[in-house]
Formats: sequence, structure tokens, C-alpha cells
Amino acid sequence: MSRVWNFSAGPAMLPESVLRQAAEDMLDWHGCGMGVMEMSHRGKDYMAIHAQATADLRELLDVPDNYKVLFLQGGGIGENAIIPMNLIGRGAVADFVITGSWSKKSEKEARKYGKTNIAFSTEACGYAGVPPMAEWRLSDDPSYVYACTNETVMGVEFPFVADLATVGRGQVPMVADMSSHILSRPVDVSKYGLIYAGAQKNIGPAGVTLVIIREDLLGHALPICPTAFDYKIVADHDSMYNTPPTYSIYIAGLVFQWLKAQGGLAEIERKNIAKAELLYGCIDASGLYESRVEKSCRSRMNVPFYLKDEALNEAFLEGAKAAGLVQLKGHKTVGGMRASLYNAMPLAGVQALVDYMREFERTRG
Ligand SMILES: Cc1ncc(COP(=O)(O)O)c(C=O)c1O
Repeated sequence: MSRVWNFSAGPAMLPESVLRQAAEDMLDWHGCGMGVMEMSHRGKDYMAIHAQATADLRELLDVPDNYKVLFLQGGGIGENAIIPMNLIGRGAVADFVITGSWSKKSEKEARKYGKTNIAFSTEACGYAGVPPMAEWRLSDDPSYVYACTNETVMGVEFPFVADLATVGRGQVPMVADMSSHILSRPVDVSKYGLIYAGAQKNIGPAGVTLVIIREDLLGHALPICPTAFDYKIVADHDSMYNTPPTYSIYIAGLVFQWLKAQGGLAEIERKNIAKAELLYGCIDASGLYESRVEKSCRSRMNVPFYLKDEALNEAFLEGAKAAGLVQLKGHKTVGGMRASLYNAMPLAGVQALVDYMREFERTRG
């Protein structure tokens, strides 16, 4: 067996020990005579897996008691509709801060369910940074303020947490799409009304969507909201109103245990900083590669970079593949390269990439 260094933006690499554990459990989980995929979600074995995954996630993110942890389906794009269906009715308008293609898509979808206001958009300047809060043109008392705190395509990560305490009546919730940087660093959950993330980057396999929601935001769903996506109903049934994506939740649970064994989020953040510094350091020191994101907002998880001579792109990718470095092609809308350095990517993988980049520049640059 030979494994590659997989820099995919998602679905992305998982810790090898998690995959090995899953292989071991495949036919017979803990001596019960069946695999997790075959279990009833109402049986005691799956219920224990579900409860443990929830408890471990709460511990890792230090989720306050007045927040619910929900496991849904529909992915990040599904949430673009599910969130407004649940929250937009709290007020007259929802505000959006647009810092890349994912937040742009979210605002467009939300318009189907109510009025939106674009508080700021960095589209005109190529989505290169994050505007300071003082520049956001917020509505008087919005239902919520929405941001994607790590834009996966552009590689733009929020360098600050928005403080909405002085907006409206001081009750405005911040809603954050953290799909591509959740669990990569500690987060003060209490600063958000709702956090969500698709799983297929730092949580586990595609198929489950994590939602962390403050309890007072439950119970505001529009009448058109499907029952299975009404957060209050999902919360009241402990994410089992309908059959949850049991296998994805089980793998997510193994990832949470792996993260705890790594030393938790403070420790994983330390590793992520080291990986990002290594790669950005290589880019900045080079005459061939460039980053187009403002330094203060560069994502630690998704690192887009460009070869100044674009004619070398194909050769770069071919050589990388031959060296066991795959999924480096940038998103089709922006071109260039992108290396995603999620939690499961070890420093050795980034070192291998940097060694290859330096050698490519020396021989071809
Ligand atoms: C930040 C962000 N939000 C939303 C999505 C959409 O997720 P999904 O394809 O699971 O709907 C992605 C997918 O990569 C993403 O990176």
C-alpha cells in the first residue's frame, strides 16, 4: 500500500489511525457482530457512539451549556437555505459580509426566503482580505449577520471575531460558515449565534453537517421550513428526528477522539501555524510563486498560490503527482494552485510539498 500526500480542499485526507480503526470495526464493532453502517440508529450501540461523538465535540470546542450540537444532512450548501428558513423570520433583514465565493452563494440563496443586505463585499478587490467591522454597513437590527470565516476557494480567513454587542438591541446573532477551518483552532463559541460546517474537511466524511446553535435561536422557523430541517425539531430529537448519517457521525467521533489524543485544539492550532508558516514562507521567499491574499487574512487551511509563469502550471502539477503530492490544482474559478492543509495533513507532507516547490523553481523557474 502506498499513500499520497493529499492536498484536496475536500473531501480531504483523514488521520490514518482513524481509517485503520474504521477498517478494524468494519465487520464487527466492539464484538457486537455487526458494523456501524448496519446498526439501527435507535439501538444502544449506535446511541452510545452518537452520544460520545457529541460529548467529545462539546469538549473540544468548549461549547457552552446554552448551545445545542446538531448533526444534519444537506452540507454547507443545504445550510444556505436551512439557516434563513430558521432565522430570517426573527427580523426584517439578514446582513451578509461577503469575502469570497461561498459567502456570495449564501447570500444569493438566502434571498429566496427573505430580505438580505450586503453589509460589505470584497468582490471588487478580488476577495483579497476581510474588511474591519467598522466598515460593515449593517442594518439597524438584522435577524443575523452572516460570514464565511474561512473562504476555501480564495484562502481568506477572518483574523478577528466580530463583536455585535452594539448592533440593534444587542441581540443580533453572528452566523458563521466554518466548514473549512472548524476544529483547526480554539473558537469562542459564545461569540456566535450559530456555527455550521460541512464535515468533509476537518470533521470526517461527507454526509453530515454540524450545526452549533444558541438555544434562544430555536423555534423561529418559517412555516415553509421542512420539518427535518427545523432546528428546534432536530434539537428536540437529539438529531434523530429522521435517520442521521450514522456512519459519517461514527467516523467524525473517531476524528474527535484523535484530536483529543493530539492534545486538543490549542495543540492542533500550534501544528497548523507551523505548517502554514512553512508553506507561506516558501512562497514569499520565491521568485516563482505568489500569494494574492493580504498577509493578515491568509488562511492556515487553504493556501492558494500562483506560478508567475502560468505556462508552467501543467508541468508543476505533473511533477507534483510523480512526487506523490496530489490535488494541488486551484479551484476552476480562480486557477493556479491550492494546497489545503487540514488537521490530518502532517508537517512532513507540507515539508515534502515545499521541497518539491523549491526544486521545481530551481530547475524550471
Ligand atoms: C466554506 C464552504 N462552505 C460551503 C461549502 C459547501 O459544502 P457542501 O458541498 O458540503 O454543500 C464548502 C465546500 O467546499 C465550503 O468550502
